[in-house]
Amino acid sequence: MPRLQLWADATQTVFGAGTRNAEMMLVGEQPGDQEDLEGEPFVGPAGRPLDRALTDAGIERGTAYVTNAVKHFRYKARGKRRIHQRPAAEHLAPDAEHLAACRPWLTAELAVVKPDVLGCLGAVAAQELLGPSVRVTRDRGRRLDAPSLAPAALVTAHPSSILRSRDKTERDSAFNALVDDLRAAACLLRPNR
Ligand code: URA
Repeated sequence: MPRLQLWADATQTVFGAGTRNAEMMLVGEQPGDQEDLEGEPFVGPAGRPLDRALTDAGIERGTAYVTNAVKHFRYKARGKRRIHQRPAAEHLAPDAEHLAACRPWLTAELAVVKPDVLGCLGAVAAQELLGPSVRVTRDRGRRLDAPSLAPAALVTAHPSSILRSRDKTERDSAFNALVDDLRAAACLLRPNR
């Protein structure tokens, strides 16, 4: 797919946000509706549980660099509503390569920030960065090797999965698991925390 086609319908490119000195980089999937309008990652509904989980894990969001594997909102228009479409990649859906098209940007962000810990939020970022065999349910919360990307890597669930919980028990449990994983990521930075 030509790279231009990806951003054709988006309001703007949503690059990462944060300091270039960040020790931790968090990579999500792709901007949603709100992110597309504001031009910042994780400022919409999925950003709220992420912010709370970061706080509970003792991580100040401003000290991390937060970005996405895909830099443009992808949606289908339904009347006035814009319905989010997942990014496609060769290993996820053979007909499109949104992740591949945006990979040079992500690679550039990694090269500039040089994070000590790379945190992948959800399967799309995890498989794009760490390989198609990574499974969030099996591998979450533990140190993974990605020597070409960062000294340590870790995967966790995408914060939007909390929003899809069926009830409060499931939501609390999903949220607490995210906090635990982010705490584990912080421990990779400071083992004595
Ligand atoms: N979901 C993501 O993966 N990234 C965002 O920035 C917002 C929602």
